Amino acid sequence: MNKLVEKLAREQYLEAKEILWLLENNTVELRQDLSEKARAVAKKTFGNGVYTRGLIEFSNYCKNDCYYCGIRQSNDQVNRYRLTEDQIFNCCQTGYALGFRTFVLQGGEDPYFDDDRVVAIIQEIKKNYADCAITLSMGEKSKKSYQRLYQAGADRYLLRHETANKGHYKRLHPSNLTLENRITCLRDLKEIGFQVGTGFMVGSPTQTIENILEDLEFIKELKPQMIGIGPFIPHHNTPFKNANPGSLEQTLQLISILRLMLPKALIPATTALGTINGQGRELGILAGANVVMPNLSPVAVRKDYSLYDNKICTDDEAAECRSCLAKRMASIGYEILTNRGDYPE
Ligand code: SAM
Ligand code: FES
Repeated sequence: MNKLVEKLAREQYLEAKEILWLLENNTVELRQDLSEKARAVAKKTFGNGVYTRGLIEFSNYCKNDCYYCGIRQSNDQVNRYRLTEDQIFNCCQTGYALGFRTFVLQGGEDPYFDDDRVVAIIQEIKKNYADCAITLSMGEKSKKSYQRLYQAGADRYLLRHETANKGHYKRLHPSNLTLENRITCLRDLKEIGFQVGTGFMVGSPTQTIENILEDLEFIKELKPQMIGIGPFIPHHNTPFKNANPGSLEQTLQLISILRLMLPKALIPATTALGTINGQGRELGILAGANVVMPNLSPVAVRKDYSLYDNKICTDDEAAECRSCLAKRMASIGYEILTNRGDYPE
């Protein structure tokens, strides 16, 4: 067993130069050591259970223009849609019957869904499914808005920091979006009391190993309850259409490192990981992840929520997605759980 891996597992901490060494020497043997330790740590808290979240992609309208993202405002090839409130509630009804106890409402930054509308949706879902958690993933807002959403009953908020390096952030986003504001949003969300998720894309254009080190240090300091990382995958109608995708190997290594740094964090094996490799989500769980997020969005709109090319699961009904994932998890000795799956305090 590699000595640094042992130290990381023991102390949940490594010096910057030690982390850099791990990142630079991502061999099969090192990854095996990392995933073995990470899996053991995950098993200690979560056993062989995998939490599920039902993902509802409620709008692909977005006022932002992130250079990597397929639904960015400037992409005029996107067939734009918004789910109606009833469509959203129907997704929840289907999801509840399938055993989901967390609903994730994700969308672009769509001004149509102002605070009043989102508050009404949260309240209605909470009224009908009091035993369910609501996770929001709808971008940057003022602290006042986040407060209203929390008071309405939202439990968790996902907002990836995308990169903790200012220069890199500028290369991925237009100038009206700043790392400073992202971080303010994340701190606001934490202060308000949300369970907070952050994260980044692995292999995003111009990302260096030093950038990844900064991401890990940022995450360690923020101590989020959830950490979403997945490979960057190019979308054919964005400025990064010719960029290389992030790698399976680096993503798996980072899942393991993050599991060892934050043993109780909720870490999904993402759809992007399943897109770059047919077994990506299984490998993600075996590397230390403990969450999967099957899609509950109506099949009719699935293809229109294309953040990147060749996204998987765009033809499957919610029930198919769930049973497919249950089978995949069973094939590696894991079991999908039917509970809220909160952060273990
Ligand atoms: N608008 C919300 C936000 O910005 O947080 C939620 C939706 S946004 C599309 C969700 C995440 O998708 C982003 O945080 C980003 O990391 C990821 N994403 C966007 N484009 C991607 C791409 N080309 N490859 C992989 N992940 C991508
Ligand atoms: Fe807004 Fe991607 S640019 S969700």
